[in-house]
Amino acid sequence: MENVTLANGLKMPVLGFGMWQNTNEDEAVKSVLKAIEVGFRHIDNAAAYQNEELVGKALRESGFPREQLFLTSKLRNAAHGYENVRREVEESLKKMDTDYLDLYLIHWPVVEGHGEDWAEDNRETWKAMEELYKEGKLKAIGVSNFSINHLENLVSHAEVKPMVNQLLIHPGVTQDEVRDYCREQGIVVQAYSPLNPLSVLRKEDRVREMLQKYDKTMAQILLRFCLDLDTVPLTKSAHMYRIEENFDVFDFELDEKDFEYLYQWQHSDFQESDNQNERPPQIS
Ligand SMILES: NC(=O)c1ccc[n+]([C@@H]2O[C@H](COP(=O)([O-])OP(=O)(O)OC[C@H]3O[C@@H](n4cnc5c(N)ncnc54)[C@H](OP(=O)(O)O)[C@@H]3O)[C@@H](O)[C@H]2O)c1
Repeated sequence: MENVTLANGLKMPVLGFGMWQNTNEDEAVKSVLKAIEVGFRHIDNAAAYQNEELVGKALRESGFPREQLFLTSKLRNAAHGYENVRREVEESLKKMDTDYLDLYLIHWPVVEGHGEDWAEDNRETWKAMEELYKEGKLKAIGVSNFSINHLENLVSHAEVKPMVNQLLIHPGVTQDEVRDYCREQGIVVQAYSPLNPLSVLRKEDRVREMLQKYDKTMAQILLRFCLDLDTVPLTKSAHMYRIEENFDVFDFELDEKDFEYLYQWQHSDFQESDNQNERPPQIS
């Protein structure tokens, strides 16, 4: 699998397997095992998804060498603050049965109770993540759902700049301004929910032509779009055949016209989320 190199030199596989809404034990374990079998080496998780133990279980069952996997988790919204982060990371490590994470992200920038002092809240939270990064427990650190103002706050105060920003990205939501800022700052952008417009797009004649032309499925076209946009797509499925299908995206590229069509595509159902609002605690 191809990699992208983060600002600190760490290599991150360019396609990740996501774990959101994958909490049925049997499905979650089987899907992680299948993902590894077909070639995924990057697993995106979060404390809020409440399935870190299931990833740990699957990794034990797989017997796959830990050092060949790239594991991410995220700080839940209710646990922001310097004093909470170390405990949260220890908890994620224990659940995923590993002694380090490849990447750890602040899940949301503005959380309940910090609508006014989000900037200070993020800086304090980040300080604890920097310490764990220096200790080697976190091989890379980053953020998720951060807009430019949230990123600037860390970039201008932090010792270690965020290495990744994980954002909602797919045709209709390409996040151009924040992606440009990330490029300037050497921050790699990950694309979550890349398949969101799948059922709407596949009804379009122009897109159906693409499926025939490339001999690929709608999901594969959407994942390729994110790769061609220089983002790292994260995709989830609990179906074995789809996991296999979603990994099969490395033998083609969209030509300029098709890429441009998807890049310009707009739909009222798909809008950027407002990252300035306070987010609920996820799990407490
Ligand atoms: N940072 C954040 O705030 C945030 C937010 C959302 C997501 N994420 C991360 O990003 C990951 C990906 O986002 P997502 O879970 O929304 O993933 P996604 O891959 O865009 O969409 C997953 C949905 O598409 C279906 N699907 C998967 N492959 C398909 C295929 N080949 N054909 C048709 N349908 C298919 C899945 O159903 P089945 O499972 O039934 O196959 C599931 O309902 C998450 O799992 C999570 O790790 C992060």
